[in-house]
Amino acid sequence: MSRASRPLLATGTALLCLVLWSAASADPRTLNDGVYTKAQAKTGETLYASQCLLCHDKKYFRPILKRWEGQPITILFTVMSTSMPESNPGFLSEKEYVDILAYILSLSRYVTGETELDYKDGALDEVIVEARKRP
Ligand code: HEC
Repeated sequence: MSRASRPLLATGTALLCLVLWSAASADPRTLNDGVYTKAQAKTGETLYASQCLLCHDKKYFRPILKRWEGQPITILFTVMSTSMPESNPGFLSEKEYVDILAYILSLSRYVTGETELDYKDGALDEVIVEARKRP
């Protein structure tokens, strides 16, 4: 690398850090901030009963949520929407998967809120998995 390009690289790195930092702090919410609604979980429950219950009892997801603590919930959403149901991966719509995810959150008794959990426009990237806080 030439001497002249070093300051440029340093500036670029600093800018990148700034961008990443502001993206991460845009709207930091966790599962304890009421990120889904009661009605959505209800819709998810019906889907879950017909598509998932066959292989996963209701206790299955607690340790899985635990495994993803500190990460955006997008990862879990992507895993389940591309690999489940095992017999027919990706069979449901994204809306249906996100409703099922809301139901999974209700199984762990996370608080509900005013707005539904949404999968569009990277919304799930801004929801961080966190252990449930007792009220
Ligand atoms: C035909 C059986 C079957 C059905 C139906 C099924 N799964 Fe699974 N699922 C599996 C198996 C097998 C695994 C992997 C085994 C394990 O690690 O426990 C798994 C693993 C998972 C995981 C864990 C992925 C990880 O991070 O390790 C999630 C989340 C999941 N399933 C969600 C769902 C959801 C949501 C549905 C309903 C839409 C569903 N599954 C339906 C069989 C099934």
